[in-house]
Amino acid sequence: MIEGAAGPREAELLADAALARELAPESCAPTGCAWYHSAWPLLRALGLVASPERHRGFFSAGLGEALTVADEPRILVAGAADAGMLDIVMDAGATHGVTPRVTVLDRCATPVQVCEAHAQRARATIDAWVGDVVDVDAHRGFDAVCTHGLLSQIPSAKRLRLAGALVQMLRPGGCFITTIALSGGDAGETRRFSPEEVQAFAAGAKRAADARPDLGIDANEAESRARGWAEGVVSFPIRDTQHVTDVLARSGLQLSTLDVRTIAGQLDGRAAGPWTARLATYAEVIACATSGSGA
Ligand SMILES: C[S@@+](CC[C@H](N)C(=O)[O-])C[C@H]1O[C@@H](n2cnc3c(N)ncnc32)[C@H](O)[C@@H]1O
Repeated sequence: MIEGAAGPREAELLADAALARELAPESCAPTGCAWYHSAWPLLRALGLVASPERHRGFFSAGLGEALTVADEPRILVAGAADAGMLDIVMDAGATHGVTPRVTVLDRCATPVQVCEAHAQRARATIDAWVGDVVDVDAHRGFDAVCTHGLLSQIPSAKRLRLAGALVQMLRPGGCFITTIALSGGDAGETRRFSPEEVQAFAAGAKRAADARPDLGIDANEAESRARGWAEGVVSFPIRDTQHVTDVLARSGLQLSTLDVRTIAGQLDGRAAGPWTARLATYAEVIACATSGSGA
C-alpha cells in the first residue's frame, strides 16, 4: 500500500495497480495482454479510463434481486480488467446484508489474481476462473452475471455465441446485467486510438500523475503505460440499441431493462479513444434467462 494516498479506496486501487504490474509480464504472457492489465488499475487511479464505477448505481440496483433470492447468491463477474466490478458486487452485498459467492472470470489470469488479492484484503474469498467466456457450454446456474462493456470486446460475428454462453451461465430467471457504450451510426467494425489520440492520452497521463504526487505514481511510467495501453486497445463498436436487443432476443434472453444514458467525462475529444473517461452514451441493460433456458 502506498503511503500518503488520499483515501482508503485509492490506497486499495494503488495496491491492485502494483500487483498487476508485478504479475502482468508472466501472467499475461499466454494471452499477450500485459500492455492492458499492467496499465488499467493505474489509469483508473488517475481517473483516465471509464470503469464500472460510472454505473455503480445501475449495477447495485440491478444486483438487488439476485442478492436477495438465495442465502448465498452466486454472482459471476465476466471479464474484469481489475477489481472495480468486484468492489461494486461486494458493496451491493453489504447493502443487502448478504455475502454473495462471487466468481471472477477472465481469459487472462492477471485480473483474476488481482481480484483474489483484493478480496483477501477485505477478508473475503472469490472463486477464480480463467477461461474464454465465449467457450462456456455447460450450465453454471449463476443468479446474476455482471459485465462492464464485454459485448464491445467481442467481434460482432462472435456476439451471438457470447450471448448463448451467458444463457448457459444463468439459472432460469437469473439476469445478465451489463453496460454497453453506444458508438452511433458511423462507427466501423473496429475502433482504435489514432496516433494523435495516443499522444494526447499519454501526455494527459503524465500531467495527471504530476498533479497527484500524493498517489506516488511516477509520471514517466504513467505516460509510457498509458501510451502502451492506448496503442493496444481495440474495441468492436456497437452502434445502437437495436443491435443489442437483436442479439439478446436471438439468444433467448428476455429484456428487462434498457436505459440509455450519456455520461460526462474529464477527457477532451482529442485524447478520448475507446474505454476512456470521456463523454459517452451507454445502454444500461438487464436481460434475464427465461424458465425454459439456462440450467
Ligand atoms: C469486459 S472488459 C471489462 C473492463 C471493465 N472496464 C472493468 O473495469 O472491469 C475487459 C476484460 O475482459 C476480458 N475479456 C475480453 N474478452 C474476453 C473473453 N472472450 N473471455 C473472457 N474474458 C474476456 C479482458 O481480458 C479484460 O480483462
